[in-house]
Amino acid sequence: MARLALVVLLFFSSIYSVLAQSVTAGLSWNYLSTSNSVKFAYLDSGSRQKSSTYTTLVFVHGDGFNAGVYTNLLPIASDYGFRIVALNRRDYPPTTALSAAELAPLSQGVAGELAFFRERGKELGLFLDAFIQKNNIPAARSDRTGGIVLVGWSLGCMFTHAFLANPDVFTSTILARLNKYVHTVVQHDAGPAQMGFSNPPEYDISLWLEPDLKKRFSLFRDWATGYYRHQNANPVTGNTSTIEFNTPTSQPHTLSKLSPQQLSLLTDFNAFAGSETTLVFMGPDSLKEIMRRALFDPALASVLPNTRVRYYHGGTTPGILVYATWLLEDCAADPFPVYGGKKARDVQVTRSPSGNHFIFYDQPGTALEEFRRAINA
Ligand SMILES: *[C@@H]1O[C@H](CO)[C@@H](O)[C@H](O)[C@H]1NC(C)=O
Repeated sequence: MARLALVVLLFFSSIYSVLAQSVTAGLSWNYLSTSNSVKFAYLDSGSRQKSSTYTTLVFVHGDGFNAGVYTNLLPIASDYGFRIVALNRRDYPPTTALSAAELAPLSQGVAGELAFFRERGKELGLFLDAFIQKNNIPAARSDRTGGIVLVGWSLGCMFTHAFLANPDVFTSTILARLNKYVHTVVQHDAGPAQMGFSNPPEYDISLWLEPDLKKRFSLFRDWATGYYRHQNANPVTGNTSTIEFNTPTSQPHTLSKLSPQQLSLLTDFNAFAGSETTLVFMGPDSLKEIMRRALFDPALASVLPNTRVRYYHGGTTPGILVYATWLLEDCAADPFPVYGGKKARDVQVTRSPSGNHFIFYDQPGTALEEFRRAINA
């Protein structure tokens, strides 16, 4: 019986790897291992650089989209003094899938969820460390050039938060390298769910309740790629009537002109319908604790003391992401009421006048300028 199960498993996993290859065949992957059993696939704009003090931006994609969303940044990176690295997270082939044993803690309450994210934060740090060791990249300089900027996007911000929350997992040798290189984490369009906040009543979450997952994925893509007109994205007012949560403008959405085949290079339905669903519906308790550890714990911050954190959102991004940044900005000023923590890191918020959730796809040059502005804020 066990042998039959193994044969069946091998059969399906070989089909799976064939599919994985065909889906991602248009992208040119590099690989780094963070353990004997985990290999990360990543895109890399490479070491041919105009500036010897270039900064390496390492992107961590969101839900249902893979590193392919960043492809428009690669050819222009060195014009802007950047090297662009975009990894595929676990469960996004050709990066190693999460095993049943790795996923098991997600059904074991808050302690399990924290343990799951401690592992994800650890492997992200190990990826950065492996990248530093493999490539002769410039170290961080006091003017914030060189080094590494880790850029989380959307649901990917859960993973960049997990990295910041668990620096005590690394050996002193690894920490010394991370501290020499990683000077900033940019959190691009983080949502409330990624920070342990609840949604406001204005935000229509019905797409997340669509039981047909193919349909849900299509509704999700349509929502995420639209342009939203906000009257006022000024956080001082915090007036939810002035931001648009649900209805995009009539402007054709980002990616709307792509053929199904082109779209398949950037998206991943299996991941969206698989483990990511669990993360989208995670309760706020563990996420609040991850945020407390990531930003508002002086002892943990002193383990990675050089890393600043910048929240950034585009001016025509979905209203919920504007809203989440308002809340975060209030918490950064006074973290105790929500997170029970203290100010521990240099945290700032920046906003673009334009740019939807896919600014890096529509306006890659503007996106790199805006990331630079966020890094220097
Ligand atoms: C919030 O914005 C709406 C729409 O612009 C406006 O009518 C309302 O007076 C504002 N509320 C507050 C408290 O400023």
